[in-house]
Amino acid sequence: MKYYDKLIFELSRKGRTGFSLPASSSDSIGTETLPAVLRRSSAPALPEVSELDVVRHYTNLSQMNFGVDTGFYPLGSCTMKYNPKINEEIASMPAFQGLHPLQAEWTTPGAKAVYEGMDRALAAITGMKHFTFRPCAGAHGELTGLMIIREYHISRGDLKRTRIIVPDSAHGTNPASAAVCGLEIVEVKSNADGLVDVNDLKPLLDDTIAGIMMTNPNTLGLFEKDIRRIAELVHEAGGLLYYDGANMNPLIGMVRPGDMGFDVMHLNLHKSFSTPHGGGGPGSGPVGVCARLVPFLDLCVSGFHGNFGVILRAYAYILMLGKQNVGMCGKLATLGANYIKESLKDLYKLPVSSICKHEFVFDGLVNDGSGEGKEGATTLDVAKRLLDYGYHAPTIYFPLLFHQSIMIEPTETESKETLDGFIEVMRTIAGEAAANPDILHGAPHNTPIGRPDETLAARNPILKYQDGCDC
Ligand SMILES: Cc1ncc(COP(=O)(O)O)c(C=O)c1O
Repeated sequence: MKYYDKLIFELSRKGRTGFSLPASSSDSIGTETLPAVLRRSSAPALPEVSELDVVRHYTNLSQMNFGVDTGFYPLGSCTMKYNPKINEEIASMPAFQGLHPLQAEWTTPGAKAVYEGMDRALAAITGMKHFTFRPCAGAHGELTGLMIIREYHISRGDLKRTRIIVPDSAHGTNPASAAVCGLEIVEVKSNADGLVDVNDLKPLLDDTIAGIMMTNPNTLGLFEKDIRRIAELVHEAGGLLYYDGANMNPLIGMVRPGDMGFDVMHLNLHKSFSTPHGGGGPGSGPVGVCARLVPFLDLCVSGFHGNFGVILRAYAYILMLGKQNVGMCGKLATLGANYIKESLKDLYKLPVSSICKHEFVFDGLVNDGSGEGKEGATTLDVAKRLLDYGYHAPTIYFPLLFHQSIMIEPTETESKETLDGFIEVMRTIAGEAAANPDILHGAPHNTPIGRPDETLAARNPILKYQDGCDC
């Protein structure tokens, strides 16, 4: 057993301590002044450990985590780009950190300037008129944007528009947000090129349609080249276009959703604008609208003004890059994704072969080692084996269009050497799968935990120490 496999309670030795306090000279706050009902009947079962035990334990725990600061993290659909440290430095300036949301407005001109500057920057980048910064995640932005669409139709007395069109390739949060907003979901199919099928869309457009939700490039990393025609058709039918800006990274500085015909959109600041992805938060999903929707922008979907620290980090990032450089990110992300795709497509099945944007999808291995009664290596096996080689796994089994999806997104922050290292490992794994898939079936072999029951771990996490438990 490795030292760090133990819980801190298991390191405990009776009487061991990491500090000493002088004996108390006064008993004025002694326990006898507390009502009996609030007093402990026995001492708390805290671990008794030395300072060194504590330092080693938590340092080792921190190093068991995988992050973009420790290695390559090609998690498709998540844009795990490096978060420059200058963002953190600026966000920790005392003048920003000490702000309170209830301060009088005249005392906060700096914060106001950050919001106004971000509004101007995002409007220039996206072609929208104005943004609200209240939504605290991408999915929260989707819900806010759909509420704006709903309010717009209601304000015009157009009450029949309760259905929203969502492509079959959409991210799961799109139909989920629409359902939470009380809209009925109508699915539009993808064509053989992996794009929204305009012929399938046309018959869906009637006077019950509130709009369409799309992301571009879509979840296969492909640019929806018919977007102008789609916008025309949806607008002619009286609907609005919602842009899921989670995939905005490759387009920044190149194409603007407003110019493509979108009316409402969100951005995931934790993707395109290099703010930390926190396990569920704090995030930020600002929502932008075109001029005719500005009167509906000020919906109250969160307390105060959203996650100011996150917005500030994103603003620092945009200013650091400047107008000239912000557009380089998407070009480099696109180049990196196509480089990996082309370097591996002889060993991994490529269901859609066109040039991708910032990410692409394989559909499992060409030669998975199956046959003659042998079970082949699956996408899960490839992902688990990557952990043994020190890489974070790509997104797997998403999008749902294929059975063995592996979705790879390198981002622009990785060097060619890093991409080459990853390609080499992916080729090694494909070789292992063809020769002896059992190596992959048992992977990972080098990590503290191998293959937990992910559903059980998410639904029924054990978050506190249970004496005698072997977890
Ligand atoms: C295409 C797409 N839309 C929406 C979302 C939801 O964003 P968030 O995780 O910030 O709620 C994601 C997240 O991965 C995404 O990839």
